[in-house]
Amino acid sequence: MSAPAPVIAIDGPAGAGKGGTAALVARHLGWHLLDSGVVYRVVALAALRRRADLAQGDRVAAIARTLDISLQPGTVTVDGADETLAVREPEIDSAASKVSALPAVRAALFDMQRSFRKPPGLVADGRDMGTVVFPDARLKVFLTAGAQERARRRYRQLKDVQPGVSLRALSKAIEERDRRDRSRAASPLAPAPDATTIDSTAMSIDAVAEAVLALARERGIGRP
Ligand code: C5P
Repeated sequence: MSAPAPVIAIDGPAGAGKGGTAALVARHLGWHLLDSGVVYRVVALAALRRRADLAQGDRVAAIARTLDISLQPGTVTVDGADETLAVREPEIDSAASKVSALPAVRAALFDMQRSFRKPPGLVADGRDMGTVVFPDARLKVFLTAGAQERARRRYRQLKDVQPGVSLRALSKAIEERDRRDRSRAASPLAPAPDATTIDSTAMSIDAVAEAVLALARERGIGRP
């Protein structure tokens, strides 16, 4: 049997630059990309639309199993409908964090996330890519940034699409989400023991992607 396709896992808190970095690294290597946060966002959106109680793991997991989710760079399609903008609504930030704490929901999404692993390779970003979903990833990066800088980045991303958004409110929401993600029992946000931590506070996304690619080269993966 041939070896499974290599994986680069990029985990870390909200606003650390994981998504932008993962997209650049995947593009450079010509690898597939998995933004696992979007998967939890889609489940949260579907659960809210069906008026499900977000604390009921079995109910939300049953909804998760019915969804036909397709992720293309920059576009999220669910059961044939384009939900790219809907999954970025502020209420989905916190709803995704709530449903992602439910072990039944994480279990329902496990195989689906692993199915993204295909040749020539996969760059996956999230909270538990290196610890739970792809523990044998060839490279694990834990990407962090100072809390204020993470809030500012989120603000810059959102201010054009959500003109009423406030930096203060965003900062509070990010703190709350990270606290929940770090303290939950199921797959908490934490670096894998064999992860390399990169603090991106004073770095551009291009510089972070270059640092990840340099680590990949050290491990003999990707293009020279
Ligand atoms: O990365 P993003 O902000 O889109 O993720 C939304 C939420 O989904 C996170 O706050 C986290 O609670 C959850 N998540 C997770 N595990 C992942 C990716 C995201 O629990 N691998």
